[in-house]
Amino acid sequence: MWDALFHHCDRARTRRFAELFEADPDRAARFSAAADELLFDYSKTNIDAETRAALIDLCDRAGLAGRRDAMFSGARVNETEGRAVLHSALRNLDGGAVAVDGVDVMPGVRDTLDRMRAFARAVREGAVEAPGGTITDVVNIGIGGSDLGPMMAARALSPYRDGPRCHFVSNVDGAHVADTLARLDARRTLVIVASKTFTTLETMTNAETARAWLQERGGDVARQCVALSSAVDRASAFGIPAERVFGFEDWVGGRYSLWGPIGLSVMLAVGPGRFDEMLRGGQAMDDHFRAAPWERNLPVLLALVGLWHAQVCGYATRAVLPYEQRLEHLPAYLQQLEMESNGKRVAMDGTPLEAPSGPVIWGAPGTNGQHAFYQLIHQGTQVVPCEFMLGAQGHERDLAHHHALLAANCLAQARALMLGRSLEEARARMAGAGLEGAELERQARHRVFPGNRPSTLLLYPQLTPFVLGQIVALYEHRVFVEGVILGINSFDQWGVELGKELATELAPMVEGRAPVRGQDGSTVGALDYLRARSG
Ligand code: F6P
Repeated sequence: MWDALFHHCDRARTRRFAELFEADPDRAARFSAAADELLFDYSKTNIDAETRAALIDLCDRAGLAGRRDAMFSGARVNETEGRAVLHSALRNLDGGAVAVDGVDVMPGVRDTLDRMRAFARAVREGAVEAPGGTITDVVNIGIGGSDLGPMMAARALSPYRDGPRCHFVSNVDGAHVADTLARLDARRTLVIVASKTFTTLETMTNAETARAWLQERGGDVARQCVALSSAVDRASAFGIPAERVFGFEDWVGGRYSLWGPIGLSVMLAVGPGRFDEMLRGGQAMDDHFRAAPWERNLPVLLALVGLWHAQVCGYATRAVLPYEQRLEHLPAYLQQLEMESNGKRVAMDGTPLEAPSGPVIWGAPGTNGQHAFYQLIHQGTQVVPCEFMLGAQGHERDLAHHHALLAANCLAQARALMLGRSLEEARARMAGAGLEGAELERQARHRVFPGNRPSTLLLYPQLTPFVLGQIVALYEHRVFVEGVILGINSFDQWGVELGKELATELAPMVEGRAPVRGQDGSTVGALDYLRARSG
């Protein structure tokens, strides 16, 4: 299935894609697609119409339409865990019934959402009293999908915050919880324990520390703790009253859970109305994904461009570069979404993958990254496809000149990557600076930019809750499409298990509660070192 594409890649290698623009004045329009006001431009890549047709062919060969419809209709498409995949039901605000095994899940979804809204309103209006008065701060304790989504979204939507301040604790490193709680009043802080399983070592350890902090400093655990979990019984056993537990079903994967109870901190910060707008944005992207033809379908196009670069051209990493400071946590969020979903080595049926799995995702907001790692992107020996993101407007109306500079930098970087600078141009510059001979030649070579480095651009009007919902759902579906074409189950995460098991075995040895047994020489050496210096 990939052979035709490898052939396209060989053909494209020697072609400068700036020339594609010269050959086709409408290239930008022909290689862009829109969903509502989101515009995805993939013209600054080496994809031509023939290559695109071959890529689109992958969708039909992989049976994408059938898999997509199966997912939305509640079939158990997460086959290795025997689960449906229905995070879309959490944002199905005005849709119809969605059945799992013949049972409509929507009444339960609506009921939980209504409870979340009522609770959020009560907290925001000061009706939830803590011993020190109304709630001023919220600490979300979770990790992975129970942290990255709400942390990313709360930061992204910070211009809309009119509720309590939100803080996020994830790492089992005691520094994280200690530094966070040190800034807060235990008598006016709401502690959210966010864990789908309610067994995750980091979250439970931090939750116990936070519970002790409340108890020691005049807080009230029953009034100031909330649980977000699929394991309602375990949450109750922790001491959280049933009415403070917001549950969700096993058909919501951790890294897809922002849309339901795991998003409670975001709802507390921006209010139920704004949270609903985010859900509507996600739902709008669902509708687009289900209806748009492949060649105008944004999740499909993002996936196909991604596959072209990673699986066909062999570029091992991909940079996510939002020119939006408030999307500073998006790269980390997408690392989990994409790498935990598609970082697999066998297909759904257990056979080895035909193509490499998903690429390494990394990135940081522009313009900061420009002063850190763009050097490698422009002149390093590896090609790093870049995904730029840019809003037409910021929220700081009185600082519009900042935004103009931000936008100019984003567009300039994409152009620089594509155009590069030839040796001739570099030589001319050096000559202009008064250099000559061997020194001119030496200096010129350092100033060459190979160019022909691919990038895409996602444009949006402004980072509103609706747009954030669209962007997150866009990436969720992109990951799904890539997974279907690669034959991967994007919804399990067995790769995280082994390390967890070995950590459980090692913890008593680190603490000196158990003798060191069955470890390799390197681990024994590290244990000796730690135990000698642990104080
Ligand atoms: O270790 C991986 C993982 O299972 C993620 O998939 C998940 O988002 C995270 O841990 C947290 O899990 P939980 O919400 O059950 O605490």
